[in-house]
Amino acid sequence: SEHGISVTGSGDALDRRMGTGEDDMTLTTRQGHPVTNNQSIRTVGNRGPATLENYQFIEKITHFDRERVPERVVHARGAGAHGYFESYGKVGDEPVSKYTRAKLFQGEGKRTPVFVRFSSVIHGGHSPETLRDPRGFAVKFYTEDGNWDLVGNNLKIFFIRDAIKFPDMIHAFKPDPVTNIQDNERFFDFCSNSPETLHMVTFVQSPWGIPANYRQMQGSGVNTYKWVNDKGEAVLVKYHWEPKQGIKNLTQKEAEAIQAKNFNHATQDLYEAIERGDYPEWELFVQILSDDEHPELDFDPLDDTKLWPKEQIPWLPVGRMVLNKNPENYFAEVEQAAFGTGVLVDGLDFSDDKMLQGRTLSYSDTQRYRVGANYLQLPINAPKKRVATNQRDGQMTYHVDLAPGQNPHVNYEPSSLNGLQEASRTSADYTPHVEGKLVRESIDRTNDYKQAGETYRAFSDFEKDELISNLVNGLASCKPVIQNKMIEHLTKCDPDYGRRVAEGLKQHGASKDHGPLGATGTHEAVKEAERK
Ligand code: HEM
Repeated sequence: SEHGISVTGSGDALDRRMGTGEDDMTLTTRQGHPVTNNQSIRTVGNRGPATLENYQFIEKITHFDRERVPERVVHARGAGAHGYFESYGKVGDEPVSKYTRAKLFQGEGKRTPVFVRFSSVIHGGHSPETLRDPRGFAVKFYTEDGNWDLVGNNLKIFFIRDAIKFPDMIHAFKPDPVTNIQDNERFFDFCSNSPETLHMVTFVQSPWGIPANYRQMQGSGVNTYKWVNDKGEAVLVKYHWEPKQGIKNLTQKEAEAIQAKNFNHATQDLYEAIERGDYPEWELFVQILSDDEHPELDFDPLDDTKLWPKEQIPWLPVGRMVLNKNPENYFAEVEQAAFGTGVLVDGLDFSDDKMLQGRTLSYSDTQRYRVGANYLQLPINAPKKRVATNQRDGQMTYHVDLAPGQNPHVNYEPSSLNGLQEASRTSADYTPHVEGKLVRESIDRTNDYKQAGETYRAFSDFEKDELISNLVNGLASCKPVIQNKMIEHLTKCDPDYGRRVAEGLKQHGASKDHGPLGATGTHEAVKEAERK
């Protein structure tokens, strides 16, 4: 053409201008008006004042002004991909139906589409992906029974066991409200006054706190859920994703070297792997326990600061997941994706894990605020099956959730006028019996130190060295009261653990000529532990 634009097919100039041709590339406004000039606003003369009726310009600029939605209050920085989950039809050697009637697990080779979002936790949407932080691992399964979200992390445990502490914990870990600077003192202040954090602190301050990328890390549901079978019988279950790519973590130095050059290395790694056809894959394992208190264990199975020891409670494979498609648009899919722990399908249930109960309110609440009341109508969040509700209206209503043949006048239930009806029950309801005093109390078996010590001892020498060095560097800038509390706790986890951190701090102080622990030599708590 005269403008050097090649137009294929038969579309004539009018077709193109009117936006009717199939391969039409004409720029339009959101009202469908063709845009003939996208370079200049409308002015009186070519250097004169602008006019206010310039709809095209105003639509463009005011839309731009609204491009960002509030970022996630946690897990703001993330990357996502599409793929599928394939069920083995079995749990270990047994038919999976013995434990759960959830349809996505039934039948060998059964595939369910998934969308996964990986993330870091504390910093904002464009923060470096090399920071020491847990990593989010959230999976949305678009099952035939509607969506199931498994909102997990890479690490298998968490800092706290009661949801009421979450906002305090996040405030302490996020930047200072005055300086807007993240501060180790705030982190260790909170942790030293919440000993249940020690096990997670041990992981996060070790190389496990900086996964090399999103493909070479594990995933875990962290909280305890339930599986329910056809008879309405339940078991406790924990989920684990194991990467076929292997696991790789970074030392602090390695992370700093990457960070000096690249803020996006994990997003880039995931995107490029999928583009070149090197599809990352994880195997899904479950651990199953009978649904009771398990007094024989020295921890409570509903306590998410504890690992369920593999030797005692085996990992049973149930399926695998492959990520084979990148998002077409980051914002539409990854940013607007909304995962929540309340999103379960028939055959899956909640446990009384107090974190899980608290989380389940929080996710959909924040998403109604962050994305909007109709966030479930967006393609990334909508189930890939028919949705028929009597929920109507609200900001950004995109369509009405009508069933085919439903009387559109009837937006209520019950009705005799061809409205929606309740589904028929196909399996026995799960009806646990609950009885007890209503209290605000911690669980009995807190046992905050034992598993943290076991994890410390299970680390290789290099992991221990890194852990100690990270703790010493982090604690060095803290007030002695916080250092001393931390050393006391770490010593209770393992005397060697506490001693090494105390000695490291002493040396660190000496090298700076102002011993943070004073000149007292080995810390009192360590001496005490060594006497025992
Ligand atoms: C994201 C709350 C504990 C994993 C979020 C969001 C909130 C939240 C409000 C933002 C969601 C959004 O804007 O879409 C809480 C509360 C917790 C808690 C109140 C404790 C009571 C946990 C735990 C895990 C976890 C224990 C690990 C299993 C995640 C992940 C995301 C997330 C992976 C990001 C999901 C995504 O990619 O969109 N959480 N959380 N959270 N949380 Fe939690």
